[in-house]
Amino acid sequence: MNRRKLELTARLQLLADWVPQGATLVDVGTDHAYLPVWLMLEGRLCSAIACDLRSGPLSRGRRTAEQYNVDGQITFRLCNGLAGISPQEADTVVIAGMGGENIAAILAAAPWTTDGHHTLLLQPQSRAEELRAFLSTNGYTIFREQLVVDRGTMYPVIEAAAGTQTLSLGQLYGGACLTHDPLGGRYLVEQILRLQAAVAGLNRTDRPEAAKKADQLRDIMGSLLEVWEEWRYANGT
Ligand SMILES: C[S@@+](CC[C@H](N)C(=O)[O-])C[C@H]1O[C@@H](n2cnc3c(N)ncnc32)[C@H](O)[C@@H]1O
Repeated sequence: MNRRKLELTARLQLLADWVPQGATLVDVGTDHAYLPVWLMLEGRLCSAIACDLRSGPLSRGRRTAEQYNVDGQITFRLCNGLAGISPQEADTVVIAGMGGENIAAILAAAPWTTDGHHTLLLQPQSRAEELRAFLSTNGYTIFREQLVVDRGTMYPVIEAAAGTQTLSLGQLYGGACLTHDPLGGRYLVEQILRLQAAVAGLNRTDRPEAAKKADQLRDIMGSLLEVWEEWRYANGT
């Protein structure tokens, strides 16, 4: 048994802070299972299922639970996304540390996540815009979004549930509700620079579709600049 206190990184800590007291949790893609183990140690959960697509990460998760003596309180399950979970087993679904398109695919394969009985805590490592687009066109609403910097990299954390929502192009790429987030300005600038680099790359090729793609990216940059102006106004900078 490990006597040292389990410390979460800033990214996982923000997710943990958003898990409601007494939740029945499923952590999809749990890997080391730090999140469910920490929450169980803090007495925050009624039950927890930690699942992963691969047996290696799941074994790592089991080891963490054993080290902290909560292995009897967490169910470990080998499954793809939410395929091995029934809707009644969890009221809070965490999917963190994978690409936005992967998170969207996991939710698309589990339509019960729009039944109004589930809170989704999502943390895309990349392609957050694809996840926001999926959510806003498939019966979810983003209720909360916050940025966190972890070891020098900034990540959005999203809380979503059943609902309807229309997001502008600027919100898809710049965050659904980050107007008052102190890190919002930096996030928007990072998105604009990323798109600028992509446009510069497209300008160097003579592929026929490159010019059209570059125009689309310029439109997105224009929308992001508007969102950035709104953020600056709201934050007095
Ligand atoms: C980078 S780790 C993230 C671990 C932890 N969730 C976190 O945020 O720190 C990504 C994990 O997701 C798992 N994974 C990827 N796609 C998955 C899927 N479709 N279903 C379940 N697990 C998946 C991988 O095997 C890996 O263990």
